[in-house]
Formats: sequence, C-alpha cells, structure tokens
Amino acid sequence: MIPTDHHPPDCLSVRDGRLFIEDCDTLALVEEFGTPIFAFSEAQITENYRRFHDAFAAGWTHGPVDVMPAMKANTILAIRQLLTNLGAGADLYSPEELEGALRTGVDPERTSANGGGKGRQHLRRCIEAGVRITVEDLHEIDWIQEEAAALGKVAKIRLRVKPALPNLWRRTDFTQLWIPIDLGVQVYKSGIPPEYLVDLGRKAIEAPNIELVGLHFHAGRHHPGLWFWQGMMVRFARLVGELCRAWDGWKPQEIDIGGGMASRRDPLNKEFSRWEFLLTAAGYPFLVGLRGLGERMYHSLLGKIVNALREHPTPKGVPTIEQYAETITGTLSRALLAEGVDLEGVRLQTEPGRSLYGDTAIHLSRVKVVKHQTEPIPYTWVLLDTTYFFLAGGVYEKNRHPFLVANKADAPEEILADIVGHSCYADQIVLGAKMPAMEMGDVVAILEVGAYQESSASNFNALPRPATVLVNGGTAEVIKHSETLDDIYGRDVIPKRLRPGRRSR
Ligand SMILES: Cc1ncc(COP(=O)(O)O)c(C=O)c1O
Repeated sequence: MIPTDHHPPDCLSVRDGRLFIEDCDTLALVEEFGTPIFAFSEAQITENYRRFHDAFAAGWTHGPVDVMPAMKANTILAIRQLLTNLGAGADLYSPEELEGALRTGVDPERTSANGGGKGRQHLRRCIEAGVRITVEDLHEIDWIQEEAAALGKVAKIRLRVKPALPNLWRRTDFTQLWIPIDLGVQVYKSGIPPEYLVDLGRKAIEAPNIELVGLHFHAGRHHPGLWFWQGMMVRFARLVGELCRAWDGWKPQEIDIGGGMASRRDPLNKEFSRWEFLLTAAGYPFLVGLRGLGERMYHSLLGKIVNALREHPTPKGVPTIEQYAETITGTLSRALLAEGVDLEGVRLQTEPGRSLYGDTAIHLSRVKVVKHQTEPIPYTWVLLDTTYFFLAGGVYEKNRHPFLVANKADAPEEILADIVGHSCYADQIVLGAKMPAMEMGDVVAILEVGAYQESSASNFNALPRPATVLVNGGTAEVIKHSETLDDIYGRDVIPKRLRPGRRSR
C-alpha cells in the first residue's frame, strides 16, 4: 500500500502489485535506465506548483501572488525549466543557483537572492540581472549602494527579518533535542536581529541607488501544524506593522513568507522517535545492567528491546497545500490589517521547497543482499545497490523515508529489517522496516525524495551519483546523467612528480 493520505492527486499508484509513477511501471524504468535512479513526475511538479499558486491567490485578494520554489531543494535544470515555463519565480541561495535559474529565463522580478555572506561580485550580478536581493548582513546595504551606483542602477531589496516567537513554545521538529520553536528560530543563523532593523531600513530608504521593496521571513520546517503558521504570521505581521510606523509610513510592495511547510509524507526527523530518544538516554544504564543476568539472558532481552526501539509512532498528519495557504493568507491579512498596514496591491510571495518538490520523486534501487542473523540477537538487513550518501539531505534531517517494494507493492509485511546502503558506513536508510519477504533483485522505491536528496548527494566510496529521469505520462527521459569514472576523478590532479616512473628512491 502506498503510504498516502487525504492529499489529492498522487503520481504514484499500485497496479497488479507493481508501483507506477504516472503511467510508467517502475520495474520497466529500472530495466531501461538501471539502478539506482531518481525518477521525477512532471505531472506532480506541475500540479503542486498550480495548487500553490491557486490556493495562495484565492486567499490573498490584496495583490498578486508569486510562488518562488527554493532552488536549494532541487537544482536540476530541466525541473527548474519546467517551473520557469509554468511562471514560477525562485528562491536562490548561491551565485551558482542564481546562474542556473537565469539560464532557464526565470523572471528576475520574481526571485529572491537569499543568504548571509553574499560577496560583492554576487551582489553586482544580482543588480545587473535585476534580481531581488534579500538582505541578511548589515554591511550589505553599503555594498549594494556602491555596486548599484557604479552600475548606474537602482537595486530592489528586501530585509530578511527574524521576529521573536514567544507564542511558539511547543517543541520544534528541527532537532531531536527538546527545544521550544521560539528558541529553535533564535539560534538559527539567518535573519536580521530586530535591534538593527529600524536603522538599517532607514539607511536603505535614504540610499539613492536602493529601493526597499519588502520584508522577508523564513524560519524553517519546525512543525507541520496549522497553529504554527498562525503563530508565525501573527508575529511577522506585528513586526511589519512596527517597521512601517518606524519608517514614517513606508509601505511594503512585497511580503515574502519563505518556505518551511511540510511535504505530503513528511519524513523530517522521524527516524528516531521521541520516546525512543528518552528511552535511549535514560535506558543506557539499564541496558548495561542487564549483563548481570548472564550472557544468554542479556542477549535475549537485547534482541527484544532492539525491536521495540525500532518501532515508530504513526507520523503526524500534514495539512494540504490548500489548508496551508488558507491559514497563512487568512492570518496574515487579518494581522496586517489590524496593524494598520495598507495592503492594496501588495504582492504575497512564498518559497516552498520540500512541500513543492517532496512528493514529486522516488529513488529506485535493487536489493543486492538479504542478510539474516539469529545469534546472539536476531537481526535482518536488506542491502541495496544505493547509499544514503545519495540521500544525504535525509541523513542531515534524520528522515524516516517512506518506502515501497516496487515489485511487491501490495504484498503483506512479513519481515522486520534495516534497509541499508552498500557504502562502507553503517548506511542505515530505513531502520526497522516492515517489509514483505525479500530477495536479491527486488526493487525498493524510497518515496518523498524530490527535495534536498538529489541536490545533496555525494560520492563517498567513489560511488557514482545516480541518473535522474523525468516521467511524463507513459514515457521517461534522462534529465541528469549518472556519473562516470571520469566525472568521479575529473577534479583530481596528480602532480607530475608523483606519477609512476618519477618516484625518487
Ligand atoms: C530562504 C529560504 N526559503 C525557502 C526555503 C525552503 O524551505 P523548505 O524546503 O523547508 O520549504 C529555505 C530552506 O532552507 C530557505 O532558506
């Protein structure tokens, strides 16, 4: 069964026990393109973009709406081109993301060059290209003014703010530690601290080659709940109101709420459940103490406890794109109007990453080995021909990846195993996976990998990063080649003096 929910259309379906993405049989895909491989659904990307746009436009009646997907979540140019063709803007971090998006002809008026530590050259390029600069660092205003003056242009900028969120005291999902969201946001490096905003804004307003067009707030993925967005938007609106008053009636042309909404099958920070964390921290002396019962009993109990530790609670439900949009636009409108902010013609911008790309891709790989042990504790591993280094974003974010066995998609669960990759690390992709009986050659599909996974893949063990295909109905084509040996070693230089025949004796 596909782990799905109340979210409308899904590019995945099970037909006669086989997993399909759109109308492509995943088993035919792996026959044609090999494994491991990422497969994206063009229909799902299009659908998600349209739903974001339409839902935000329905809720925000004061002015236009821009959906500006975060390029960091997915840097594949064909996918960026598809989004550009649909009319999407872009959240861009590095100079390289900027160049990639510009290559696809993205409208620079609907971009946001985000991030701290921007170099002068990067700022100059943004001004030349007419890209919006979202300011993070205090010195940026001086550099932008100087560069814009030298180019004879006016740079349009926004300030990235970071309001205090004492109303959000519930636990953040951002880390496995027990930390309130408010603190989680404060210790996150991004955003200009409130104490500088009034002076910085005045300086920008007075600068002859700068136009301050908006304010931006991105806090990250802290909780999927709608109450989180209500709390964020209320505090953001309060700060916007304070700044409009402090800047003598300045009016924003753009308000950007960043990203951070959860994706359909939200895997973030689920690999290690809450009670498990507590049990492990508190349980260590207990586990060690069991040794007093003798070796046999110790291992027998460990075997039982390890299975309990690998149990996972049912994940929290994730609101739909429409529910997010309604909550965000409704709360923001009401709170900004209550602050006396004139909203006539104001653009609302959103920068979804995981919530737009997450469910648009799967990662397909084949089982290389199924390994069982019964002594001293029973355990099973299903070793794939991929690695968590190709899903590195998931490792950083402690994802519990949803998965399916593509060739046994409706077979009953029979075994409990760790799904592991074939690098020399422990390479745990899914711990304690309940699966059908597995054998060599079975195809495992890791779901919800459209955001941050392909873009964070590395090639540890000199493993070639996999290809990506784009599925469109019943056809698929390669949009990113897998790495060759020459790609893997292409950046390496062996100095002449170290080459064979030149070794000094
Ligand atoms: C400024 C900005 N916007 C948008 C995003 C996308 O966030 P998410 O993938 O959580 O939606 C990020 C991610 O870090 C970001 O830094």
